[in-house]
Amino acid sequence: MKTKVLKSNQIDEAVSFLKNGELVALPTETVYGLAADATNEKAVSKIFSAKGRPSDHPLIIHLDSVDKIIDWVEEIPDSAKKLADYFWPGPLTMIFQKKKPVSDLITGGLETIALRVPKHPIALTVIKKLGSAVAAPSANAHKRTSPTKPEHVLKTLSGKIAAIVDGGSCSIGLESTIIDMTRAVPVILRPGAITRVMIEHVINTHIQEQLEHQQKVPGNMAIHYQPEKPLFLISMEEIKRRVSQEKNVAIMHHSDILKTKNATYYKMPKNKAEYARSLYETLYRIDSTDVDKIFVEKPASHNKWFDIHDRLYRASSK
Ligand code: TXA
Ligand code: MG
Repeated sequence: MKTKVLKSNQIDEAVSFLKNGELVALPTETVYGLAADATNEKAVSKIFSAKGRPSDHPLIIHLDSVDKIIDWVEEIPDSAKKLADYFWPGPLTMIFQKKKPVSDLITGGLETIALRVPKHPIALTVIKKLGSAVAAPSANAHKRTSPTKPEHVLKTLSGKIAAIVDGGSCSIGLESTIIDMTRAVPVILRPGAITRVMIEHVINTHIQEQLEHQQKVPGNMAIHYQPEKPLFLISMEEIKRRVSQEKNVAIMHHSDILKTKNATYYKMPKNKAEYARSLYETLYRIDSTDVDKIFVEKPASHNKWFDIHDRLYRASSK
């Protein structure tokens, strides 16, 4: 199959592919998603073969509006209504008790379901025109870095999916925050642009935050989002100490550093949102070079950077 690259004015073609049970990669504000019509089991099953994803890893259902929650969920807690009103469309995925008829293929056999309304005009228009919802994991081969540009998607999925809609770079660049609303006290399972503090302000309750890789849900793994090159998350002191022993290393740093000939230096932004936006893009860029390994300078251990620490930790060689 040849993967067709569609422009943002060719949305109708993307919708036809989805109606015909094909897979289409779509831009969202977080990362590119690999979409299938969520009401077509055969189409959803193609997601798993295209990505090489184990069948028990649950998928996120993407809706075009808040009112569609009731198609998928038995009961919507009041706090979830507040969060939906405040943060949707946006980078927040909420987990609910699923409605009985929802396919095990989507939930990986769990009794719960993950829902999100993305804030990207292309994704929203496609879902609206499709008239149902799309199941969409990140549009990358299993365990690889999530894509924030069309060329990242093509790198691992070209020839395996019908089309991709080119929406340029994703504005956030990290996957959505995932919050489990089925517990008495909501728990953040995956940190993201919407932080614990932002959520607590809206629902006026203390919530818990658990790094995703500590959760025993299939798909939440300590090894995930890995670039092809081994990545080491270390302090600037350690980078300085270790760089002289290397032949050809990439260094992602935000502090100033004296450059050496045996390393390629990638200056990362000091601003958190900008760092998030360029993180995966920089990893894809480094992966296309011939360096042996990647040293990443550990960012500040401030709570605001929790999502970045989580992704870097999981991208690193352990
Ligand atoms: O920003 C995002 O969330 C992107 C864009 C495309 O929307 N999607 C994304 O999907 O990152 P994916 O499949 O790569 O990651 C979804 C995560 C997985 O780790 C999965 O285990 C978890 O969500 N998940 C899905 N349903 C769940 C459930 N019912 N309970 C717990 N975790 C769930
Ligand atoms: Mg993913």
